Amino acid sequence: MAKQDNAYFAVTLPGFESVCAGELQQLNISSSCQHGGVDFHGGLRELYQANLWLRSATRILVRLDEVTARDFPTLYKRLLRLPWGRFLKPGIPCDIRVVCHRSRLFHSGRVAETTEQAIVKALGAEIDPQGKAQQVLVRIEDDRCLVSIDSSGERLHRRGYRQARVAAPLRETLAAGCLLALGYDGSRPLVDAMTGSGTFAIEAALIALRRAPGAMRNFAFMDWPKYRPGLWKQLLQEAQQAEKTELPAAIFAIDNNPKAIAAAERNLTSAALDGVIRIQCQPLQQFRAEVEPGLILCNPPYGERLGRNAALKALYRDIGSVYAGPFAAWQGALVCPDAELVRSSGIDFTPLLRFSNGGIRVALLEKPGE
Ligand SMILES: C[S@@+](CC[C@H](N)C(=O)[O-])C[C@H]1O[C@@H](n2cnc3c(N)ncnc32)[C@H](O)[C@@H]1O
Repeated sequence: MAKQDNAYFAVTLPGFESVCAGELQQLNISSSCQHGGVDFHGGLRELYQANLWLRSATRILVRLDEVTARDFPTLYKRLLRLPWGRFLKPGIPCDIRVVCHRSRLFHSGRVAETTEQAIVKALGAEIDPQGKAQQVLVRIEDDRCLVSIDSSGERLHRRGYRQARVAAPLRETLAAGCLLALGYDGSRPLVDAMTGSGTFAIEAALIALRRAPGAMRNFAFMDWPKYRPGLWKQLLQEAQQAEKTELPAAIFAIDNNPKAIAAAERNLTSAALDGVIRIQCQPLQQFRAEVEPGLILCNPPYGERLGRNAALKALYRDIGSVYAGPFAAWQGALVCPDAELVRSSGIDFTPLLRFSNGGIRVALLEKPGE
């Protein structure tokens, strides 16, 4: 590790680790996948780049250090020596999250108190309860206590564009992760066939236009003592210069519900994508795209609330007819929790990823274009 390097961890939803590692590689940052995230190293530039550019990560942590402790006085003494002042301003309130596994120190509340006492003593200032809280994560496993500082603040799926939503929107990070896992890079046409609040279509447009997903928001690292606004500004400028002004290939957003179309339109406006995406209120069954084949994908209703009834099976059958009929030459993808519904489509899909979408285990399924 070079002298100025920090150890970082990009947290992902389990299933998206290798997608995130691929994104880091695009930034020329090497990394290694762990369960639930990706380890990488670097200075502030790499940290800012990861927050600015990673589409599939949930947040970026700085690994402060690991200390071994089997009792609270030792824990306090060792935590006191950590370089808190590099990341926390004196007096800042800390939101300390603790997880304990297989360790003599198992009382998470007391671990949090001990950590707070060490931070207050190390920084030499009482906590200002009015201040903006910085999240600190403490994980104790086999008596080893790993301390991390969250650099992102609000989770990275909060890009800043979602103003309106309809039932069961996909998280922005999941939508982007699915697109990247499907090999979408913006060079082929894309149809988001059940767009809802527009998430797949908007994330696809951000990918295709090479827009940095974090350019419209703030991050926790902006409140750190060593924040370098000049470096951040430079990265934003570089990102802006690399942006494309036009989509290389068309993106369509379809939904048969006018309320969904209204929500998607609002989100497109707030993402500065007005007029970029072709949005239509139409049933998927009637839609035709008069362009060369690309990727058609949808996140249909799962029937969680209304049950997996005959109408829902008929909808999946229709999806199958569209994918095997007018869109047979297209790569087709589906996000779905239920093997029986998938079978109703009549398409021989291959599972690409499995993940949890709002607490429901789903699979991202793919069929190649003919
Ligand atoms: C689970 S939601 C999609 C959520 C979306 N991925 C998002 O992030 O907001 C399913 C959507 O499918 C739409 N839908 C259902 N049947 C449809 C059909 N036959 N054609 C087009 N859209 C349909 C619904 O109106 C709903 O907006």
